[in-house]
Amino acid sequence: MDRIELRRAKTFKGTFSPTPDKSISHRSIIFSSLAQGKSIIRNFLRAEDPMSTLHAFRALGVNIDDTRDDIIVNSKGIHGFKEPSNVIDCGNSGTTIRLISGVLSGNPFFSVLTGDESLRTRPMGRIIVPLQKMGADIRARGNNNYPPLAITGRTLHAITYALPVASAQVKSAILLAGLYAEGETKITEPTKSRDHTERMLPAFGAEITVDGLHITMRSGLELRGADIEVPGDFSSAAFFIAGALLINNSDITIKGVGINPTRTGLISALKEMGATIDISNTRTVSGEPIADIHCHGGKALKAIHITKETIPALIDEFPILCVAATQAEGTTIIKGAEELRVKESDRIKSMATELKKMGVEIEEFEDGLSIKGNCKLKGSVVESYRDHRIAMALSIAGLIADGTTTIQGVSSVNISFPGFFELLRRVTS
Ligand code: S3P
Repeated sequence: MDRIELRRAKTFKGTFSPTPDKSISHRSIIFSSLAQGKSIIRNFLRAEDPMSTLHAFRALGVNIDDTRDDIIVNSKGIHGFKEPSNVIDCGNSGTTIRLISGVLSGNPFFSVLTGDESLRTRPMGRIIVPLQKMGADIRARGNNNYPPLAITGRTLHAITYALPVASAQVKSAILLAGLYAEGETKITEPTKSRDHTERMLPAFGAEITVDGLHITMRSGLELRGADIEVPGDFSSAAFFIAGALLINNSDITIKGVGINPTRTGLISALKEMGATIDISNTRTVSGEPIADIHCHGGKALKAIHITKETIPALIDEFPILCVAATQAEGTTIIKGAEELRVKESDRIKSMATELKKMGVEIEEFEDGLSIKGNCKLKGSVVESYRDHRIAMALSIAGLIADGTTTIQGVSSVNISFPGFFELLRRVTS
């Protein structure tokens, strides 16, 4: 049975390293597959989403050895892919389908990309429009918006493109297509989204310059293999950071967590709510800042207002931020978060519906939520909607609720965090 029962935690203590970063794991496989020669990937996240990317590039003929701790990729370079003999299944992974579309747009063969029920409801127009402007031949279901996508590679030309939404997936898809295009690819973001592509692709030989919200990439360069070490995932650590702040008798240290500022909006939000979060031992791994994070509970949190500009840096932390808001003094308002409606589930609706079941007074807006704090959560039967981050956020809610919380659809945690419940058990009593 795909469910778990949780009760109030008396303590929440431990020191551990988080799982490897999901976004960076995807990119490590994609960029290695584009780069001529051998690449070594250390600390790769063997979770369902990055494995979808790995299998996709194997289907394109890339030699990827996954028999040891490190992943070894041997590639013939950006023009070395072969036509896949079957439809490519991207599973639940938006990053896989959107980034690989950029690659396939410039490859002279036919391919079809699909995914699970959730992925087939997620908007692809946001990549199809700019890729078509570059000359790509892509067609999709539902008026060119939903997977499956059918792509026939063509000769591409570079574009100058202002992203209508802040999205690292769209930005990365354009940059990857740009590797095949003639001219300079120029992108402007409305707000800064995660910049792992801009940081990692140059390690393989790409020339990218970033000036505030403007990104420029030169095309025509051959990429060559590199060694990458994947840092710990801040988005996975986030559940334990919030857990430590919300559970009274707690003391959590998480080592080697990525603290790229385009990802750590939750830390700023929690600090603004009054939390103490210590960050120490800051260092750099594969061009990404990492650190150890220490936090403990017992401090009262206060409600805050979150606005559109702050959403991209905490986009994946919205579900756990909602749980933290239920415990803050006052009413937290989150606005400008309409992107959350098109994630693995409609996360605004998922969190509003399930937290209401636990007794929270919550109001849903088209672009966010208002969450009344100081709530004594009551254990209930809640639904993850098969969305990994909803399952994990509700688990933390279950640890601070009265009675028993039953969460349905918990195997979805394997999308980004296999071993989540084992770790939760280890740190709770
Ligand atoms: C990701 C970017 C974000 C994020 C997703 C991973 C990436 O999506 O929500 O979990 O790896 O580029 P958007 O870029 O669509 O906001």
